[in-house]
Amino acid sequence: MGIAANIAEDWHAALAALAWQVDAGADETILDAPLNRYDLPAEAPKPLAAKAFSSSALPVASGAADPVAVARSAADQAGTLAALQAALTAFEHCDLKRGARNTVFSDGNPKARVLILGEAPGAEEDREGRPFVGRAGQLLDRMFAAIGLSRTSADAESALYITNVLPWRPPGNRDPEPAEIAMLLPFVERHIALVDPEVIVVVGNTPLFALTGTKGILRARGTWAQTLGKPMLPMTHPAYLLRNPAAKREAWADLLSLQARLR
Ligand code: URA
Repeated sequence: MGIAANIAEDWHAALAALAWQVDAGADETILDAPLNRYDLPAEAPKPLAAKAFSSSALPVASGAADPVAVARSAADQAGTLAALQAALTAFEHCDLKRGARNTVFSDGNPKARVLILGEAPGAEEDREGRPFVGRAGQLLDRMFAAIGLSRTSADAESALYITNVLPWRPPGNRDPEPAEIAMLLPFVERHIALVDPEVIVVVGNTPLFALTGTKGILRARGTWAQTLGKPMLPMTHPAYLLRNPAAKREAWADLLSLQARLR
């Protein structure tokens, strides 16, 4: 018998021995020497939170003035949507901007009666520079088209205006941090004031949280509330509806409620 045949025979023999031991209940391997697992390691590992919240991970550029105050001042000085877009594009206090290709400002007709407020751009929106152009956005368009509303309509009656809480894509589509939402909220509030829609539709938890300080879109959806002096309808995010098609029935009820409100 050659060497190769010996190796093969040893391998089969070893496997058979292991199988026998597993059948017999020996399902853990042990070391030759005992190991005290309660011993402290020579160097204690750093807590995860300390790493996650190190200054380089914070969205606020270090050494900056209070970013919320800077945002408020810049937003309040903008007298037109074009000025607000320029002020937002020039805002340097949010690190999300550094990883983004575009500042995604808005889409649709600023004369629309309905303003939709989403969360943040995804990869496609970041590439194109327009909100809601990916799969979720296509569903959003179909949903609102079902009640006769479109972002491409020139007629205010049937038009939509769409924007997001954050104009820059969070890396890996992670949820926006409360600090990011807080520093961009002055721009969102000014944006809504300048467009002055009749109703605001918030889609998903992030815009609900941004405008009301509360979460729980599944509980809040379908119930009209008041924000910034305007009626607000919370709805589930179209990305959620893509993952949970059964929830489309409730979304349809919410759209009918919106349609009734506009009549
Ligand atoms: N999801 C959002 O909330 N906004 C977009 O623009 C795209 C996806």
